[in-house]
Amino acid sequence: MTAGNRLARFASCEDFRRAAQRRLPRILFDYLDGGAGGETTMAANIADLERTGLEPRALRDVSSRTLDGTFLGVRHAMPVMLGPVGSLGLFRAGSEAAAFRAAHRAGVSACLSSFAVTRPEDLPQGSGSDAFQLYVLKDRGRTQAILERVARAGFGTLFVTVDTAVSGIRERDLRNGLRRITRPDLRILADLASHPRWCMERLRHGLPAMMLAEGWPEAGGTYLEQAAFLAGQIDPAFDRDGLCWLRARWRGRLVVKGILCAQDARIAVDCGADAVVVSNHGGRQLDGARSTIRALPEVAEAVSGRAEILFDGGIRRGGDVLKALLNGADACLLGRAYAYALAGAGEEGLTVFLRLLAAELDAAAALCGITSLDGIAKDRRNGLKPPGAGATDSANA
Ligand SMILES: Cc1cc2nc3c(=O)[nH]c(=O)nc-3n(C[C@H](O)[C@H](O)[C@H](O)COP(=O)(O)O)c2cc1C
Repeated sequence: MTAGNRLARFASCEDFRRAAQRRLPRILFDYLDGGAGGETTMAANIADLERTGLEPRALRDVSSRTLDGTFLGVRHAMPVMLGPVGSLGLFRAGSEAAAFRAAHRAGVSACLSSFAVTRPEDLPQGSGSDAFQLYVLKDRGRTQAILERVARAGFGTLFVTVDTAVSGIRERDLRNGLRRITRPDLRILADLASHPRWCMERLRHGLPAMMLAEGWPEAGGTYLEQAAFLAGQIDPAFDRDGLCWLRARWRGRLVVKGILCAQDARIAVDCGADAVVVSNHGGRQLDGARSTIRALPEVAEAVSGRAEILFDGGIRRGGDVLKALLNGADACLLGRAYAYALAGAGEEGLTVFLRLLAAELDAAAALCGITSLDGIAKDRRNGLKPPGAGATDSANA
């Protein structure tokens, strides 16, 4: 069967998730799939989006429709962006460049994680709103050097992630012994051996290294050692003054990722953020935090008009994107959804997934009587209720 035929049978994010589960050793799949603690926040992101209804509208002319719209200063084919996902290069060789290529092909942009394997200089250039995601480090000289490198590489947008003062504790990773993967015990060896396709690819391409750790010999020699080193360098003292420090040093667009309440959103915007991302890191940090779709209206009300509002957490279908827009977002970031597609079915799989997402978004909008997604934000700014909103069983009711 050709790759095209095989992929034609993929009809949802869950299909790609299962493909990723089959292809990846369990230790890596659980790292991608799992969340912090009892994973209640991770589950709530999805469950609350499912509970958020859409209101169908009839007797409207929806024969001419468009999904495109402007956010982060650039016109996108749909209000979607690939968010920062670390370790993509561990799931499949070349995944970060593949993600950028697939995003550009779909008319959207992508964000490179600090935990990436691929150097920012080596990524394909897109339409102008591709972004780099930064963690502010205790060593501000090192942070400044990263900013300069990323600006030289041509990135105009910086995402600074602010919900990782300390690392979330992920039970699946502890149980699986993720940190021991380079010194594997029998259980890990058996896991690796039962995924020969992944092992063969790793043997062909060699073990990856973290691109930021180039020139940091004290970070260690393997990706996981380097990732642990970087995690330990993230500054837990990073606060409002730190954000103002960063704003003064980054000339491009600044996006603050990891906002879950109005007060933090106002601080970010007062410090000069151009946009905030309503995010709880996909439930990978504070288990017990509320779902992002619940937090979104409060943040939108606090800063809408002063900054753009991006949203992530639990987006698996086009209808989820529409729900986020109707609750105050200007655009959505994908996290696990696109990583499943890449890990399970490669670049072609991600292209198919993005096409599927666009088709679902188009159908959902049309059935809600919406012909332009840009119109949703306009209606909101004018205090009008857009069609499609007014959900039956809203998470925010
Ligand atoms: C495996 C994995 C790695 C991630 N790495 C990063 C990262 O390096 N930086 C960051 O800001 N967020 C990171 N995130 C969080 C995502 O950017 C995003 O907030 C989250 O995945 C959204 O939730 P969803 O996966 O349910 O869509 C990561 C998420 C996953 C699943």
